[in-house]
This record gives sequence, C-alpha cells and structure tokens, in this order.
Amino acid sequence: MDTTILPQPAAGPVRLPVLMAELDIGAEIDWQPEHQAESAWHEHVPFAFWLIKALRPRSLVELGTHWGVSYAAFCQAVERLGLEARCFAVDSWEGMRTPATTAATSSAR
Ligand SMILES: C[S@@+](CC[C@H](N)C(=O)[O-])C[C@H]1O[C@@H](n2cnc3c(N)ncnc32)[C@H](O)[C@@H]1O
Repeated sequence: MDTTILPQPAAGPVRLPVLMAELDIGAEIDWQPEHQAESAWHEHVPFAFWLIKALRPRSLVELGTHWGVSYAAFCQAVERLGLEARCFAVDSWEGMRTPATTAATSSAR
C-alpha cells in the first residue's frame, strides 16, 4: 500500500504511519461500535473514538443525537478509556430538518 498522502513542499512527503504516530492514532480506530443504526456517522465512528482519547473530556454534550450512533461512540470511548466524563445528548428528537421536511411541515399547518 502506498502510504504517501500529500506532498509537503518544504518538508517532503508525509507518510501515513508518521502522521498516525504524531496524532497518536492507535488501536481505537479498529474498535467495533457497540451501537449501530442507520446514520451518516458510521464512517466517522473511529474519529469519535480517537477524539475522546485525544481530548479526554470531563463533560461531553452532543447537540444533534438522532439515533445515537455518534453519541454511543463517544460514550463507548469514555467507558473504554475509563474516563470520568459526564455525557449528555441533546436533540429535538424530531429528526433531520431539510428543505423538503420543513416545507412539508409548513404546508401541513
Ligand atoms: C444529522 S442528525 C444527527 C446524527 C447523529 N449524530 C447520528 O449519530 O446519527 C442531526 C440531528 O440534529 C437535530 N437538531 C437539528 N437542529 C436542532 C435544534 N435546533 N435543536 C435540537 N436538535 C436539533 C435533529 O433533530 C437531528 O436529529
């Protein structure tokens, strides 16, 4: 596998293993998510795991939780890393607002 990503004019090419080491990306990107649902967040779950490892928050508030894929990933990382973080999920629980659903809601009133 060619691990060259972006050529850096001043410093030369950056190798993926070097970048991963610098960002401390480790085994968490291969953890299996315990909660799965239909969500555009699936491919971002490893990022959620890494983000919690990198930030080690004491409080976590997710705005926009919907079916909970991202929130569950954050909570899974908090638990697995043994953090003391208090976690909160905030949502209107009405689902995604898109121009189509907003128009449908407006016309139904
Ligand atoms: C893209 S979805 C979230 C996806 C979710 N994080 C996941 O893992 O699948 C965005 C969510 O934001 C919520 N939302 C949008 N605007 C909001 C608002 N003003 N107040 C509360 N929730 C809101 C919607 O209800 C929707 O559930």
